Amino acid sequence: MPKFYLTTAIDYVNNLPHLGTAYEKIAADAIARYKRLAGFDTRFLMGNDEHSTNVEKAAREKGLDPQTYCDQMAEAFQAIWKRLDISYDDFIRTTEPRHIRGVQALFAAVVANGDVYKGKYEGFYCVSCERFYPEKDLENGRCPVHKTEPSWLSEDNWFFKLSAYGPRLLEHIKKNPEFIIPESRRNEIVNVIEGGLEDISVSRASGSWGIPLPNDPNHTVYVWFDALINYITGAGFLESPAEFERWWPADLHVIGKDIARFHTINWPAMLWSAGLEAPKKVWVHGWLLSGGGERMSKSRGNFLDPNDVVAALTSDGARYVSLREVAFDRDTEVSWDSFVRRYNADLANDFGNLVNRSVSMVNRYLEGDRPSSTEGSLASAWMACLPAYRAAVEGCLLHMALAELWEFVGAANRLVDAEKPWELAKAAKAGDADAEERLRGVLGDLVEACRLIGLAAAPFLPLTAPRVLAQLGYPYPYAADGNGGPRILDELHWGAHAGEAGHVTAPEPLFPRLDVDSADS
Ligand code: MSP
Repeated sequence: MPKFYLTTAIDYVNNLPHLGTAYEKIAADAIARYKRLAGFDTRFLMGNDEHSTNVEKAAREKGLDPQTYCDQMAEAFQAIWKRLDISYDDFIRTTEPRHIRGVQALFAAVVANGDVYKGKYEGFYCVSCERFYPEKDLENGRCPVHKTEPSWLSEDNWFFKLSAYGPRLLEHIKKNPEFIIPESRRNEIVNVIEGGLEDISVSRASGSWGIPLPNDPNHTVYVWFDALINYITGAGFLESPAEFERWWPADLHVIGKDIARFHTINWPAMLWSAGLEAPKKVWVHGWLLSGGGERMSKSRGNFLDPNDVVAALTSDGARYVSLREVAFDRDTEVSWDSFVRRYNADLANDFGNLVNRSVSMVNRYLEGDRPSSTEGSLASAWMACLPAYRAAVEGCLLHMALAELWEFVGAANRLVDAEKPWELAKAAKAGDADAEERLRGVLGDLVEACRLIGLAAAPFLPLTAPRVLAQLGYPYPYAADGNGGPRILDELHWGAHAGEAGHVTAPEPLFPRLDVDSADS
């Protein structure tokens, strides 16, 4: 069985997730589920980034020691991920012994390779980004991401010879253009490398909240050097060589644009220095913006709380609107209003209604007896939709995959309006054999369309998919996380179950319509 190993960024725990940080996890989860359904042995890793100065500060403000605080936050984060039906296979925390050992081993390997030296660092440091900024990259003297004033830091640090890896990075990107997608981000990174890389500081002299350096225990490992290593310690590095051999290199890192440089420049260089392979692909998504072009964030207060969105729209609804409204490859302004409207239009009206009316008509006109599909216009529409859906989902363009599928939902709804099954039923009842045959054909096509949409949407709507199939009288062949069962692409053929007798159940509303005003958060 082919394998697929994917990861998200690990979150700082100084705050609970907002919908921007949650979006990334929902997107990665949809990809993980698609891969499982497609027959890949899938490992989906998420986790928390705990050794940050901001995390330590948040703990102290609450009067807790950092470890106790991180333990509490780990539970709170995971409760939110469960509420969104995020199906991670493993959750790594950077204070776990398996990670600490791995970081020290990787650091030692980089030292042994001659890539680390001691020097003095002076520069502007943004604590929220946990990174130094050259003066030219500041905007009016402020951090371009957090809009806060950086502090001036001057320390004796250990440095990593990042500058030595520029040529290899450029060659790697040229040979493997898929390493960084989308293309716009790849171009930005190439520009940064071509502009010349500076060596980076990889230790901190002040503070004890961090992993001690193996070669200098008075220093702690710089939080980004520490954090990136989660992708290997979460795949068995050091602890289980056979596991690590199976999973590494990762097939996909899903991350936001503010941390692209760490993942596409620092991370491969660190791995190469230690004699390991670079990840195969880094997908750089855009930001959720809110309140008029501002990055959604906790500190700015312009955020949607994933708990509120799930409470109003259900978990499947929250997942759908996030993935449909936000373009995976650029920034998108979102709002409560746009979410509720999208939910009502696409889920309550278009898809919910389609399933409801199809099942109702099969009950009313055919006594629940599931008819076979035909090779009519809906079959052709599906043949056009499937490759477009597949290309979009495999290219990580999840909003496009859903747009393609919902085009097809529209085609199915239009068939109902054009064919008017209620009129065909009346004629059939009066003894018109042609009308009877057409009625069976139209309803067969509608049921087939619902089956295909339900299944193809399963990575996005994992709780709805089995409910749709059950109403159509089909068994759902997959486990809750998408494992097991036949390969989804075999199931997504038009007429894959043609000729199999079955009965639809009573229609059961999938997505109740929301009142826009009363659903306000
Ligand atoms: N701890 C680091 C990542 C280390 S990965 C080895 C970090 N954490 S974070 O909590 O600040 O961000 C986690 C992820 O959420 C990042 O990929 C970041 O880009 C993403 N997002 C943060 N705000 C976001 C939006 N408003 N919209 C979309 N994604 C956002 O960075």
